[in-house]
Amino acid sequence: MLPSIRCRRTNLIRRPCLSARLSTSSVLLANRAIVYSSFGNPSEVLSAITYPDLPPPPSKSLNVKYILSPINPADLNVIENKYHSKPSPVSSLSEGRHKFPEPHYVGGNEGLAEVTEVGPDVTHYKVGDRVVLTKQQSGTWASARTLHEDDVLKIPVGLSEVNAATITVNPPTAYNMLHSFVEPKEGDLVMQNGANSAVGQAVIQIAARKGIRTLNFVRNRPDIDSLKNYLQSLGATHVFTYDDLKDKETVQNIKTTITKKGTSLMLNCVSGEPTKDMTRLLADSATLVSYGAMSKQPLILPTSLFIFRDLRCRGFWQSKWYEEHSIQQREELMKTLAELKLREPEYEILNLKGTASDEEVAQQVRSVIAKIQEGRYGRKVLLRFEPAQ
Ligand SMILES: NC(=O)c1ccc[n+]([C@@H]2O[C@H](COP(=O)([O-])OP(=O)(O)OC[C@H]3O[C@@H](n4cnc5c(N)ncnc54)[C@H](OP(=O)(O)O)[C@@H]3O)[C@@H](O)[C@H]2O)c1
Repeated sequence: MLPSIRCRRTNLIRRPCLSARLSTSSVLLANRAIVYSSFGNPSEVLSAITYPDLPPPPSKSLNVKYILSPINPADLNVIENKYHSKPSPVSSLSEGRHKFPEPHYVGGNEGLAEVTEVGPDVTHYKVGDRVVLTKQQSGTWASARTLHEDDVLKIPVGLSEVNAATITVNPPTAYNMLHSFVEPKEGDLVMQNGANSAVGQAVIQIAARKGIRTLNFVRNRPDIDSLKNYLQSLGATHVFTYDDLKDKETVQNIKTTITKKGTSLMLNCVSGEPTKDMTRLLADSATLVSYGAMSKQPLILPTSLFIFRDLRCRGFWQSKWYEEHSIQQREELMKTLAELKLREPEYEILNLKGTASDEEVAQQVRSVIAKIQEGRYGRKVLLRFEPAQ
């Protein structure tokens, strides 16, 4: 590791980095971001970059420092260039004070940030406010950024840092899917796969608050009972594995004792074979809402389901919901979610030390992403950039 140098004048630490060494001009390294300059496997293409303090924000903008920034599955798809919305490249993160040799994309879409400086025409925010992002692909894997005030929301009171940092993507997806299609009532049954995902856990809790029963499916694992107990502690009514769907007796038992005439709403973030198997438990004219494809397999369904059982297939994308709803509606949704007092997802905070080199930090992030990509990681990883001093 290259040693860090403290600047006597500013008392800020200068982190030696490749670009600084090549250009022979050392850089004031108050900030850091996790970036990529070409699309590909995130555990290979990500690097870390350091940049100086942000200049004062322009008229309707805010400077923020990030407190926690989650790594969500879609963030990895964006880096792989396999996601619908694309990131915007940046050539400098501090208005040209330190130009990068080539344009970079900053990773991350979700995060909790604190306002550190406001532009002259900002009226709705003040220094110290805590905000979350509603603009897609804002590049939240950074210690500090300049944001437009229309792209953030103040967080409702009473949320923990982890709940606030993870409130804009998964809980609203769960909430909206339960309210935008077949709106289930107390006593109804909703079926879902990927039930241990952050969205799945939010579905379980939101449904349980309304007395809606949930039939949940997860991948099998050696400690399956502890996962079942955990999901039941959140309010899951039934938890099975996809392997159970291969067992005729278990399926018959689920049909007779749980689904009876079948369920009318199914939420899918897995696709592939397990999802096809689950459709056997649907009622006639049921709605299947797809919002993810964690198996990376297509969703192939028998045509007979459409002809004889009138299956309705829909999709949901929270980003589109944000585009189509006003700031007031977004704030209202955040307030509703905060009032539900959802349990924090199981999480782990990855502290990125201010005194570590860019390469060490990049290696930390790449290796945790490689482990997430193996599957069954079981917890949401949130990045925390520790200050350089
Ligand atoms: N459409 C939208 O607006 C929207 C919004 C939010 C999220 N999403 C999508 O929802 C999904 C879940 O997101 P999240 O943040 O809640 O996830 P998460 O907490 O990171 O959990 C990932 C989930 O995917 C499962 N999984 C991983 N690899 C799998 C595979 N090969 N086959 C089957 N299951 C697999 C995991 O199960 P194991 O524990 O068995 O690995 C776990 O349940 C993602 O596809 C995400 O992109 C969509």
